[in-house]
Amino acid sequence: MIRLGVLISGRGSNFEAISNAINVGKLDAEIAVVISNRASAAGLEIARDRGIPMRVIPSQGIDREKYDGLVIEELRTHEVELVCLAGFMRLLSASFVQAFPNRVINIHPSLLPAFPGLDAQKQAVEYGVKIAGCTVHFVDEFLDSGPIILQTAVPVLDKDTLESLSARILLQEHMTYWRAIQMIAEERVSVEGRRVVISDAA
Ligand code: GRF
Repeated sequence: MIRLGVLISGRGSNFEAISNAINVGKLDAEIAVVISNRASAAGLEIARDRGIPMRVIPSQGIDREKYDGLVIEELRTHEVELVCLAGFMRLLSASFVQAFPNRVINIHPSLLPAFPGLDAQKQAVEYGVKIAGCTVHFVDEFLDSGPIILQTAVPVLDKDTLESLSARILLQEHMTYWRAIQMIAEERVSVEGRRVVISDAA
């Protein structure tokens, strides 16, 4: 069973959705550890309630390389095979990415490459796109830029507010992230340059 390390900074709803998918048997994986860079992250409560190992590694005031080194060490201690960023509000260093080649993934609430960075849903509303969505992608050292694994489209309705659109995107994030992880767990995902190729299920 593939061992996941989930990195969070806040609410943790994507972490919860991954954990739920495991609990109902849809995702063949184990969450080896949850790491937060913020002690106040609500997602830590979810880990505590579920008895999932968790660590807080505060990032404030530590330089990036050093911080990433601490996180890598913790991930290695828990024998993590796939690192899942789930609302982890930090850019990773090149050395982190190299420590887990094609083994770090992220979920972002837009159809990348549109609207990278913060407040993606707000950017989508303000731009006036008719189709929004979410993306699971491999992580490189740049912001929201690695090869795309899976995307789900979410129509923008005329009556949408930022809140209603964000909520519908989040619902799809929760459906999309574990599916991408499951495909990786089944070793169906390969990276060819910028393209991710998904082979058929056995
Ligand atoms: C999600 O919208 C995710 O796409 C983005 O940050 C948010 C995290 O939410 N990267 P949660 O902590 O998983 O609830």
